[in-house]
Order: sequence, then structure tokens, then C-alpha cells
Amino acid sequence: WCKGAIFDLDGVIVDTARYHYLAWRRLAEELGFEFTPEHNERLKGVSRMRSLEILLEVGGISVSPEEKQQLAEKKNHWYVEYISALTPDALLPGAREFLTWLRERGVKIALGSASKNAPLILDRLGITGLFDAVVDGTMVEKAKPDPEVFLKGAGLMDVDPRECVVFEDAVAGIEAARRGGMKAVGVGDPEVLAEADWVVRSLAECLPTGGASEGSSEEK
Ligand code: BG6
Ligand code: MG
Ligand code: MG
Repeated sequence: WCKGAIFDLDGVIVDTARYHYLAWRRLAEELGFEFTPEHNERLKGVSRMRSLEILLEVGGISVSPEEKQQLAEKKNHWYVEYISALTPDALLPGAREFLTWLRERGVKIALGSASKNAPLILDRLGITGLFDAVVDGTMVEKAKPDPEVFLKGAGLMDVDPRECVVFEDAVAGIEAARRGGMKAVGVGDPEVLAEADWVVRSLAECLPTGGASEGSSEEK
């Protein structure tokens, strides 16, 4: 059904989305305003700098470019601290199993993440070897919803974008997949990810057994 599968990282393969949120919320607190999970949806899939700009917008704060740089570094410092203890336990349900299942069927696999920390995280999780190509935040000019990150992934796998399926937890990522001419599977809340072609709660649902040793198929 597809020749290439492209995976977002944070919130799809690994449970790091909450650490991004914790670090942003801590920054907002320090700046004197509240940053809610609803606000945070807008940061998912978005680059570090763009995320900061959105956060500052929410707080109604304007800062100099130098200060912006410092704030972004501060957030990343906290984030890296939070994830420094990551182990394979942080893999989301079905992630490793589904990647392995696809590989066994000859489907090419790429990572398409906005995160500059992506290689470090893959390494911590011990899953670098499951990817044919890795595109991270250091390799793209334009952030999601621009399709650049996914088109690069397709190019590196040497698969036509129209034969690729993207797995994403971010609204911006679903839009990026569509703009790139790819099918999109939303991983998360069907109400938030209404623009996706299909929505699953986790990658476990993409396995023929629905993630359980024996069980009903949730595959669509
Ligand atoms: C994305 C996350 O994967 O990476 C965003 O969904 C994050 O929330 C972005 O801002 C950039 O990550 P990093 O690790 O480069 O700050
Ligand atoms: Mg994500
Ligand atoms: Mg991402």
C-alpha cells in the first residue's frame, strides 16, 4: 500500500512532546504568563525559533533578537536536561514493532522531524538502525507546514512522494504531508487531527493485531 513511510518523532515515536511542553511552560512562567496545553498545540511540529515566537505572541511580549536567542537556548537547555534520562521505555506503544513490521515488508522508512535533537533521541532509544534516512531540524530551511522535511525524506529514500505515507501528531505536520502530495496518518486526537486521511491513537493500532498479541484490526 505504500513504498515509503515517513515518521515524525516527537509525539509519534517517542513521548517527548510533554517535555517540550514542560520546558516551554517553564519559560512562560519565568516570563510571567500562563501557557496552556491548548496554546501548546500550536507549537507541535514547529521549529524551536518559530515556537518561541508563537509563545511570545501568546504572552504579548516582544524582545530583542539577542534575547530571543537566549530564551531559545534556555528552553533547549531545560529540554535536553529532561530528555537526558530517556531510555527505550519512552518509545510510544507499537513504535518499534510497527517500524520493524514495515521493514520486514520492504517498506523504506525515513524520519522527518523538526527537531535538532532528533539524532540524539534516536540514539538514546536505540532505533537509529531502523531508519533508511533521517531528516532533522538542522537539514531544512522551511518548517512544517512546509513540506520540505518530508520531501527531503522521500528523496533520500528514493521514493515518489505520492507513494509515501506520513505519520504525524501535529496539525502543521498533517498539512505538510498533504502539501507534499503524501497521505497522512494522524497519531492522536481525531478532533485535533481532522485533516488527516486516517487517525490512530498510537502506532500500535497500525499493526495487524492492533498491538495486542491477538485482537481486532484497527487498520483502515
Ligand atoms: C518538533 C516538535 O518535533 O521539534 C516541536 O514537535 C519542537 O515541538 C521542534 O519545537 C524543534 O525541536 P528542537 O529539539 O530542535 O528544539
Ligand atoms: Mg510531533
Ligand atoms: Mg516533530
